[in-house]
Formats: sequence, C-alpha cells, structure tokens
Amino acid sequence: MHPDLPRRDFIKLAAAAGTSTLIGQNLSAQTMPARSKPLRLIHMTDHHLMDFMNARGSQKGIEAAYAHAMTFKPDVIANGGDFLTHSIERPLADMQADAETILGILPKSGVRIINACGNHDIWGWNKRKSGATGNEPLYGKNFFKEYFGEGTRYRSVDLGAWTMLVLDSTQPWNDGYQGGLDDEQFEWMQGELNSSDRSKPVIVLSHIPILNSGIILQDARTGPEHDHDRGVTLPKGSCHQDLWRMADAFYRHGNVKIALSGHVHVDERTDILGTSHISGGAVCGSWWTPREQIAVRATLRERQRGTDIIRTPRADPGFGIFNLYPDGSFEYKYELFPWEFIQG
Ligand SMILES: [Fe+2]
Repeated sequence: MHPDLPRRDFIKLAAAAGTSTLIGQNLSAQTMPARSKPLRLIHMTDHHLMDFMNARGSQKGIEAAYAHAMTFKPDVIANGGDFLTHSIERPLADMQADAETILGILPKSGVRIINACGNHDIWGWNKRKSGATGNEPLYGKNFFKEYFGEGTRYRSVDLGAWTMLVLDSTQPWNDGYQGGLDDEQFEWMQGELNSSDRSKPVIVLSHIPILNSGIILQDARTGPEHDHDRGVTLPKGSCHQDLWRMADAFYRHGNVKIALSGHVHVDERTDILGTSHISGGAVCGSWWTPREQIAVRATLRERQRGTDIIRTPRADPGFGIFNLYPDGSFEYKYELFPWEFIQG
C-alpha cells in the first residue's frame, strides 16, 4: 500500500461466539430444521450512494437498509459492490467524500463486514471525465482497496464451516469495463479450489454475475434483422465474459454451493451444476426509484434505439438473508426494508 495513503480502521470480526441469534423477523425459528447452528450472512449489494445526481435520499435509504439488516443479528455482512456511483468518471475528492459517507454508515461492531469491488467503486478509469492521470496512488482499484477492500481486490475468507471467495469481477475495457476475472486471479481461484477441503462448502462473492438470466431481460438485444448468426447478445459489462471456465471450475470442485452477485439489480436465482447462482437484488432497488418507472424509461430508450424490446422491472430496495449450514445446505430470502420512495 502506498505510504501516503490514509489508514483505515476496517471492521474486524467482533461478534462474540454465541451472541448471535438465529431468529429473524421473517426467517423464523419455525422454518428452521433442527440441525447445526447456521451462520447468518446478509448479502447487501449495489447500495449506490447517489445523492449528487438525484434527490431521492440514497444516503438515508442506505442507513435504513443497515438499520433493518442489523435486526436480523447477522454474523457476516457480505457487500457485493457498487457502494458508490459513477466513480470511474468523477473527481477523486468527490469519490473520497462519498466513500467516507459509506464508511460512516457501515456497522462498527457486532458483525463481520466483507466487501467486494463493484464497477462503481473503481476510481478514474475514464481519464477524460475524471481528470485522472493514472499515476495517482488511489487510481483504479487502489481506491477500492484503500477504502473497502482491506488492501486487496480478491481474497479467500474463512467463515468457519464455509469458505468465501471474494472476487474482483470488473476488468478494464476501453474507457470502461467488462465482466470476468483476469488470468492471474483465475489461477489464484483455481489454486484455492484445488487445495481446499472438498467437504467444506464454498460461497463465492462477485459483483458482476457469473451466470444469471435476469441480465438477459435487462441488457440483451438482438443482432441485425435477418442475421441468423447474431441472435440475443449481451454487452461485455453485463456478465462474466469467462463464464464457461468459471462454471467448469465450480463444477469440478463439486462443493461451490452459492455464487452471489449484484450488478443487475434483480432478485433472481439460477441453480445449475450444483451451484446456486443468486443475483441479490440491490439495496438501492432500481436506483432509489420505483421499479416500474425505471422499466418504462428503459423501454422508451429501446424505442428511441428502434427496438421493440420491453424492459421489465428490476428489484425493489432490499438485501438477501442467508442461513448457511455446515453441511452445505442453506436458506435464503430477499428481504425488503422499510423505505418510502422520494419523488424526484
Ligand atoms: Fe449497480
């Protein structure tokens, strides 16, 4: 880490063993089979602090989300990226102020916080708009590493009965990004999986989805009319461009039970090859706007592009609650938190 960078007090494991309760407001004791004590993990993704660009109360919304999340007494909060908004093209000072706001909201004790990097948590890649030269200590993913990543962009985290692999799923592409792992990171992930105890279940945390069908509804288009070779296609930033090697690695390991992602702002689950790919909605829902409004706007944009695609609603503001059992089984629900939309 650069010596001039400010140091952060990252939140460490503070939950004392035995103090967490298994009883949440909706995942009640009655729904839980009598078996080993589960780890309670809350997945919060796509917070999108964006008060700078709309007046819909994003900071208050994020505070409301954490207030509700903590009532479930989680052992772990896994943040799936996109705490911030448009970081690749905004001035550094603005991004630093927003990052400090988020750090001020995250719980300080009683829960372990693990953060993955989202495409909106990377500073300056669009040099023309951000004013970055590329030589700044906080350029690119150093920004995420400094504020949220505990010095790393990907890592393995021992959760006791489970292992979590935290991935950096955003890679540069022109002035923007594409989904996937760089080769160095993929080799690391393979090594982690190959050397792991196969009886220990694995949960993967990435921002950009590895396998997800909601992205098809939201991002896919068709190729030119009458071009049979180019049917439904997805932009490079929508999902992992290396999804095949990822799915193969998970399958060969045999105990990658959950692959968690965000990015698409949809509440969706796809079970395939022994892995449940869960796209965990978004804390901001549809960017703090009623989801039907966003769907109508997106559909109108398609009309302006000359397509007849109907864009369907994404998620309402919420987060995922997991009970993870030592045998690899789990319970999951997408929980909405109390929030009144502010009309902008
Ligand atoms: Fe997002």
